[in-house]
Amino acid sequence: MTTALSIRDIGLHYGAAQALRGISIEAKPGRITAVLGRNGVGKSSTLRAVTGINNVSSGEIVFNDEVLKKAPPYKRARLGIGYVPQGREVFPLLTVKENLETGYAPLKAAERNVPDYIYELFPILKSMLGRRGGDLSGGQQQQLAIGRALVTRPKVLVLDEPTEGIQPSIIKDIGRA
Ligand SMILES: Nc1ncnc2c1ncn2[C@@H]1O[C@H](COP(=O)(O)OP(=O)(O)O)[C@@H](O)[C@H]1O
Ligand SMILES: [Mg+2]
Repeated sequence: MTTALSIRDIGLHYGAAQALRGISIEAKPGRITAVLGRNGVGKSSTLRAVTGINNVSSGEIVFNDEVLKKAPPYKRARLGIGYVPQGREVFPLLTVKENLETGYAPLKAAERNVPDYIYELFPILKSMLGRRGGDLSGGQQQQLAIGRALVTRPKVLVLDEPTEGIQPSIIKDIGRA
């Protein structure tokens, strides 16, 4: 099996402080790859290195045989890296529909639509299209953040703490989706 995403011996610094040292992860197509660890160990930093929000100071990240080097986040989104940040980062004053449409940014004009399967995965989104993101519950916001990432047609979906602070029944729904 080939590798979709390969994190190779990366280091990452915040100023002089080293947050990551020698991290390597292989994510294979069609599989879920999980990163586990206590608070502050560097999970989010690792995922932000994949999305290009933070640049690595050593090592490399390879996506579908392409070394990403210092490609900015918008270019990685165009390549097919979808991101659901820790804390969800839903736009509170935009409606659910508008939040989903922010996922159009990396797409060509002809692809700028919300695929029906997203509403099938998360029916709550369809029934709340006109509501403001900030008025949704935590679990609904999480589904919106995942839906927004799926709108970008990702080839790999990077989820940071997708079940944090969410009630167990919704965690199950998200897990199934
Ligand atoms: N923006 C930042 N500036 C400075 N230090 C940071 C920043 N983000 C995270 N860190 C530090 O990097 C380390 C790893 O944090 P993080 O990647 O958020 O861990 P996790 O997601 O596993 O809880 C921690 O020591 C944290 O304090
Ligand atoms: Mg984190």
